Amino acid sequence: MNESGVLILAAGKGTRMRSAYPKVLHNILDKPLIDYVVRTALCCTGRPEDVAVLVGFGGDIVEEHIKNTFPGVKILWQHEQKGTGHAVNSAREWWENFENLIVLNGDLPLMRGVSLKNFVNASKNYDCFITSFITDNPKAYGRVIRDGSGIHVIEFKDASPEEKNINEVNAGCYAFKVESLKRVIGLLTNNNAQDEYYLTDVLALMNSEKLKVNAFIMPEIEMQGVNNLRELCDVNNEMRMRILNKHLDNGVHIMDLSSVFIGPDVEIGSDVVIMPNVHIWANSKIGENSLIGTGSVINNSVIGDYVNIVAYAVIENSELKDHSKAGPFVYIREGSCLEKNAFAGKFVELKKSHIGENSKVPHLSYMGDATLGRDVNIGAGSITCNYDGEHKNKTFIGDNCFVGSDTMFVAPVELENDSATAAGSVITKNIPENSLGVGRSRQVNIAGWFKSKHKKGD
Ligand code: UD1
Ligand code: MG
Repeated sequence: MNESGVLILAAGKGTRMRSAYPKVLHNILDKPLIDYVVRTALCCTGRPEDVAVLVGFGGDIVEEHIKNTFPGVKILWQHEQKGTGHAVNSAREWWENFENLIVLNGDLPLMRGVSLKNFVNASKNYDCFITSFITDNPKAYGRVIRDGSGIHVIEFKDASPEEKNINEVNAGCYAFKVESLKRVIGLLTNNNAQDEYYLTDVLALMNSEKLKVNAFIMPEIEMQGVNNLRELCDVNNEMRMRILNKHLDNGVHIMDLSSVFIGPDVEIGSDVVIMPNVHIWANSKIGENSLIGTGSVINNSVIGDYVNIVAYAVIENSELKDHSKAGPFVYIREGSCLEKNAFAGKFVELKKSHIGENSKVPHLSYMGDATLGRDVNIGAGSITCNYDGEHKNKTFIGDNCFVGSDTMFVAPVELENDSATAAGSVITKNIPENSLGVGRSRQVNIAGWFKSKHKKGD
């Protein structure tokens, strides 16, 4: 028999969110809130097969998300949502195989793994051990009643005015001895204000069976439930500040804590400066001593050391190597790469393009499906015509090439090393090494034309 299983309750609709979307898939920063809860659970058990997520409302998309994100974590179904007690009972076949069952509400993203571990370690002597917190604003949480009959919980909607004044509330994470839970879970009724089978009623049932029940007081800030969009914003902000503080502690210079957003999986080296209004998401990694200029959005990208992202850069799934420079106003996407010392400047878009060492695309250019060697200079306004309406075609530009302004590369096309294009050229044929490609009509000057057309007073 395995020791402890963690069951995450994520089947509820989340009616108070006023959304057609399942509550647990709403994002905290760039990740669904269920991800934080599953991570906390994994932190405690270490084994995905000991964690199960109970899905129901919108269960197909929750299931797909969990399977893709946390392989090995078990999916269980609660087809009708009749309350948290009914939810736990629906998963009985799974948890019967454990000695202890930990139940986590799926809407508790701020709980830290280490806090869950402490709670579980303290739970060993109890048949039912619950988390609680003391608060000045007990909102609609279940109230923890400590009286002669032992600890139990009264739901807000069933509480008397005196009980509503109680400031210790149920936080929504529980540890049960499976043998004891089996004795009482079938006895739950839905005889209450919400016609639901409450998990919290298990406490009173255990008390009457003389089983041992107790509560463990947790830090309030970690136990905030998400039941509506306001609480989602509050939790989002708390998580955002937690992450920003971690980076500050690691020597990342964040200029404005109120406008910077960094996802939970981002890594940043020391002496990086992050200007206001910057967002950094997914598995982005930033080396040391780089500058992330104002208004920049970096998604799932790798930024090296001493990189200068001047301002207003959008960088997605790409890599900027050491000492490269980007922006202002640049869009770098889909697997592009700036090699060391390379530069993509003002109003430049790169898509699936590789810009070699010391090469520059300084102004108003589109490089799509292009490979540039080293020491290339691309004149202003040059673009790759990579799409012929059916296929995306490649452009190769060799080392040391000099591309005149406003060159159109009609791909597929190649410039060999040490070649050049004349400004305004439409390049449809390969250019051999050490050659100039001229692809434009010759200029003709028509003498006397100007004054014959523009008479004085016209
Ligand atoms: C619950 C507790 C309350 C506690 C609070 C802490 C009960 C009856 N009440 O209230 O005492 O103070 O959490 O945050 O448990 N769910 C299912 N199936 C269902 C119903 C709910 O899986 O049939 C899931 C939800 O998806 C959610 C979790 O259980 O993740 C808790 O449900 P929720 O409706 O948020 O309960 P609260 O009203 O917050
Ligand atoms: Mg809740």
